[in-house]
Amino acid sequence: MGDISKTRKRKMKGIVLAGGTATRLFPMTATTSKQLLPVYDRQMIFYPLNTLIKAGVKDILVIVAPEHSGQFLNLLGSMFKKHGIHITFEVQSTPRGLAEALTLGENHIGDDNVALILGDNIFEDDFAKQIKEFRGGGHVFAKKVTDPERFGVVRFNKENRAMEIVEKPTTWISDYAVTGLYLYDNSCVQIAKNMKPSERGEVEITDVNKAYLKKKQLEVTLFNGEWLDAGTPESLLEASIIVKEKGISRNFHPVLDQAITEFNEELKIRSKKRLQ
Ligand code: DAU
Repeated sequence: MGDISKTRKRKMKGIVLAGGTATRLFPMTATTSKQLLPVYDRQMIFYPLNTLIKAGVKDILVIVAPEHSGQFLNLLGSMFKKHGIHITFEVQSTPRGLAEALTLGENHIGDDNVALILGDNIFEDDFAKQIKEFRGGGHVFAKKVTDPERFGVVRFNKENRAMEIVEKPTTWISDYAVTGLYLYDNSCVQIAKNMKPSERGEVEITDVNKAYLKKKQLEVTLFNGEWLDAGTPESLLEASIIVKEKGISRNFHPVLDQAITEFNEELKIRSKKRLQ
């Protein structure tokens, strides 16, 4: 008899990385997590969740800082249970770097592939096609920016093939930032396990991308829509304005919309009971 595990089509698991300390947003993040702050009319985390849910990802691990785990559980713990979306949580005790999401997520990923998204990244575009059609290696999404020194940056050759990726380059190599949505095959767990922290003491997601690039297995796709990361008071405000103007939170997947509406109803019932 053949080995079923070898022939089974790998699923796409989801991870939202929503830990970190967000010192640039103090004092707002003294009492809650950055990813629970509002961007226009929704908590920030709903935007990356929407990106995954739109692509049919149904099994999602949310990685959180210990001090905010209760708040995430209150918000997301049972919101999706009627909707066939399974949310689990993992605590990252200290922010040791983005690639730790892959080792913390090892059991969750199991034998499958993974779509990792940063909890503070808001995408206007829909990546459902790329996520559904993912077959292996690594696939990241790049966007032209005016401040590449703030990001992981990818340099292309004349044929638009990715040649080099550098985390926060101190000398200019390109204007294309690697954004916070990463699609990886199952080998990412092993890659992350074997990694050493960088000079700034973090296990870098850029090093995972470099490992795929070295194996010639990294696809890099440019995209046109808005990409917002809301890490400073200014960019948080700007993100809210753009989300409102472009109707990004009005364009959530129906399942997410419905789950939020039901949650609002439940909140109303709870508050009525308190007043009785
Ligand atoms: O936004 C895209 C950029 O994200 C990429 O271009 C970079 O290559 C990548 O390193 C990352 O850079 P940032 O400097 O923006 O990463 P930051 O430290 O701000 O972390 C991103 C999010 O992940 C943030 O919401 C906090 C969370 N985080 C961060 C770390 C280091 C965690 O949950 N755990 C962590 O250990």
